[in-house]
Amino acid sequence: MKQEQQYLWWQSGTIYQIYPRSFQDSNGDGIGDLQGIISRLDYLEWLGVTAVWISPIYPSPMADFGYDISDYCDIHPLFGTLDDFDQLIQEVHKRDMKLILDLVPNHTSDQHPWFLESRSSKNNPKRDWYIWHDAKEDGSEPTNWLSVFGGSGWEWDEKTQQYYYHAFLKEQPDLNWRNPEVQQAMFDVMRFWLDKGVDGFRVDVMWHMIKDEKLRDNPSNPDYKPHQATYEQLIPAYSTDQPEIHDIVSKMRKVTDAYKARVLIGEIYLPVHRLIIYYGTNNKGAHLPFNFSLITLDWDAHKLSSHISEYEGALPEGGWPNWVIGNHDQPRITSRVGQAQAKVAGMLLLTLRGTPTLYYGDEIGMRDVPIPPDKVQDPQGLNMPDKDLSRDPARTPMQWDSSNNAGFTTGEPWLPLPYNFQRINVEAQREDTYSMLSFYRRILQLRKQEPALHIGDYEPVVTNGSLLAFIRKTESKKYLVVLNLSHKPCIFRLNTQEYKGTIVLATSPEREGKTIEANISLYGDEGILIELD
Ligand code: NOJ
Repeated sequence: MKQEQQYLWWQSGTIYQIYPRSFQDSNGDGIGDLQGIISRLDYLEWLGVTAVWISPIYPSPMADFGYDISDYCDIHPLFGTLDDFDQLIQEVHKRDMKLILDLVPNHTSDQHPWFLESRSSKNNPKRDWYIWHDAKEDGSEPTNWLSVFGGSGWEWDEKTQQYYYHAFLKEQPDLNWRNPEVQQAMFDVMRFWLDKGVDGFRVDVMWHMIKDEKLRDNPSNPDYKPHQATYEQLIPAYSTDQPEIHDIVSKMRKVTDAYKARVLIGEIYLPVHRLIIYYGTNNKGAHLPFNFSLITLDWDAHKLSSHISEYEGALPEGGWPNWVIGNHDQPRITSRVGQAQAKVAGMLLLTLRGTPTLYYGDEIGMRDVPIPPDKVQDPQGLNMPDKDLSRDPARTPMQWDSSNNAGFTTGEPWLPLPYNFQRINVEAQREDTYSMLSFYRRILQLRKQEPALHIGDYEPVVTNGSLLAFIRKTESKKYLVVLNLSHKPCIFRLNTQEYKGTIVLATSPEREGKTIEANISLYGDEGILIELD
């Protein structure tokens, strides 16, 4: 077994995602900003996370709330200035924490100067920076590819009489990553931020970045269900996950590796056997291709445990695992598995082998907040109003205290707060031993202290009904994690020879300190962590 010092911060640490619009507003405009984040860094340090990933803060027309970038090397005035950013990075590092930026290389805003040039004429030098194509003979789109946000992925440009491709909104044209100039321009962007000292990137939709050169049609999806986004009608076999992507990722990795101890994370929604290819040949791809299975799989002990085994088994030699429990695109964990089960989910996230990514507010059990139809802001929700796909409910302001607007802003918050924020907030939970926040803090601290938990090996023990049990261990220490993934009680039958120990952490603190020598009766929604003798 390897020694701890051989592991890097992004392996042994934990990542906390901030959605900057919603974390903390400092100037009363109802939208979070960089000074707001700076003012809350002490909280994150106290909580015990290692790295902060912030969703895009660059100039943007905000058609997709910052994922439509019009300048990659500046800060949107809503969020602050480059000086604020320099201060943020300094303050993060002062606390011995890391800062990860969101990089959106697949597409720009349609207002980015590159695209304005590209669309200005067919022979503009930047024409080939985007994916332009003639219509078919009948005037229709070059392929049947769909936009993730609804409708066709192609937009007709009247002036130059061609279509351009956009995997997301028409205001987010896709860059042509086959063009070496595009590659160099984006690598320069990466260097701009790396030179400023950022500790890495979370790369937006990494698996979308290259499309089929022959522009073949996508096949239809026989499993499509009408409640799903229209995008799901087709299998994106030719518009995503193309073999050439791995060459691009390895180039991005090279740029990253020219700096010390930086991390390259890929946002990739793919099944395990496709996902692991993004680690690259000889691990020269992404350090962490995001593993979203705790989000995408049913909350079922058997499904989760067989996934864990499949994933552990499929990881390439030297490939480091990771787990994500929530993000700004998905319903919150508390809304998916329920308030009571959310602690168990947190325990699973923070005891599995691999880097965990937490989403802001999950540590206090924030729930999805219903947004009245006339207040919906998310383009995905607006474009497909009948499908309940708005991401706004998971993007509401952080609940800090019981004051006006939960201490998030002195103005009108850009999204509403829930009715119960006076009870569900950081201040109310901080001193309460039984709260979700205290639970998260204690498990984060323990994980940090114990090599067995942050770098130790994983060993499955049993999956039985709703029970999931596994071991994390180093040569000197062994922990047994026992989780009840249902609301009903269950019994963990011990082989007493093997599993004697003391409960060091539990979803109900009353359990802690008890020795374990016989079968363990678990209440519904209970999880315990036993340090084995
Ligand atoms: C993935 C991001 O997480 C999501 O919020 C965004 O809408 C799309 N990529 C498009 O950039």
